[in-house]
Amino acid sequence: MAEVVLEGVSKRFGDTEAVRDMSMVIPDGAFVVLLGPTGAGKTTTLRLISGLEKLDAGRIKIGGRDVGNETPAQRDVAMVFQQYSLYPHMSVRDNLAFPLRSPILKTPEAEVARKVAEIAEILQIPHKLDNKATELSGGEMQRVSIGRALVRDPAIYLMDEPLSSLDAKLRADLRIELKRIQGDLGSTLLYVTHDQIEAMTMATHVGVLQEGELVQFGTPREVYENPQSVYVASRLGQPRINILPSELFGGAHKGPQIGLRPEHIRQGDGVEARIIRAEHLGDQTRLHLELQGYSVTTLTDPHTDYAPDTILKISPQDPLYFDAAGARIF
Ligand SMILES: Nc1ncnc2c1ncn2[C@@H]1O[C@H](COP(=O)(O)OP(=O)(O)OP(=O)(O)O)[C@@H](O)[C@H]1O
Ligand SMILES: [Mg+2]
Repeated sequence: MAEVVLEGVSKRFGDTEAVRDMSMVIPDGAFVVLLGPTGAGKTTTLRLISGLEKLDAGRIKIGGRDVGNETPAQRDVAMVFQQYSLYPHMSVRDNLAFPLRSPILKTPEAEVARKVAEIAEILQIPHKLDNKATELSGGEMQRVSIGRALVRDPAIYLMDEPLSSLDAKLRADLRIELKRIQGDLGSTLLYVTHDQIEAMTMATHVGVLQEGELVQFGTPREVYENPQSVYVASRLGQPRINILPSELFGGAHKGPQIGLRPEHIRQGDGVEARIIRAEHLGDQTRLHLELQGYSVTTLTDPHTDYAPDTILKISPQDPLYFDAAGARIF
């Protein structure tokens, strides 16, 4: 496993700046999650590191080595693609074994069998090992794709939204498994997603991408508690942070826009808001409020019943402030 360093990396496709001047250190053994909406440059970043795309500018180092002129095979990365890419005519077993049997690794067959069985167990597909790859559901194919990366021991795993086609239960299971595997093996992992739950739960470091630019990098807690902008603040947290004109709350404020996470709204004093509806999710209740024409979402005790149109007084607690353009005011 190895440290991976990006220095001023850029990539353009025609008029699109897919990745712009990106610098980032992925420490050895880290689980870095890049978070960004569609088109933010996530896949392009992974393809640049793996060597499937050429850099326009900048440098990439893996384990201290500048890999700019190396082929994907020489870079020793294992990539899980957004679209699964299995050998359709081969069985699941042979798909999983394929990387281990490569001319470079030439793993002994007993070791191949042991590794394949172990990975199949983790991915909950041992009963499918003799199926052809075409005889699988989408979610099973995706698990085999992940497995084909996991059987190897590369410098870094690069994963492109590997859980996106799975159902909620399996996704939750595999989140825990991936985190465990990474901890057990001490692997270095760069994982891209637009799912903030994955970012919050698995990452040692989160990088937030905005139109090809890395706009913030830190631990999940740092990024959640100290976002640099409205954009970053809105990427993490469910329900989303409420961004409102500060003046709604009266008094003096540090900036024109106030950011209130749902858990940062105190109830019982302050300005009057009207309850639109309560959503009971079992472990929590979300209250949707209206405050002078603006919607506000907050959380409340699951055991309390609120009738629509009830008036509730609210006030900010630990607010974040932003300027008119959305940059954080500290
Ligand atoms: N081969 C290509 N040719 C032209 N434009 C491309 C190419 N690959 C990516 N782009 C453009 O670069 C930008 C970044 O694309 P990229 O695939 O990296 O986004 P992404 O963050 O992975 O999005 P998604 O979440 O939809 O997978 C997009 O505007 C995309 O249209
Ligand atoms: Mg993508």
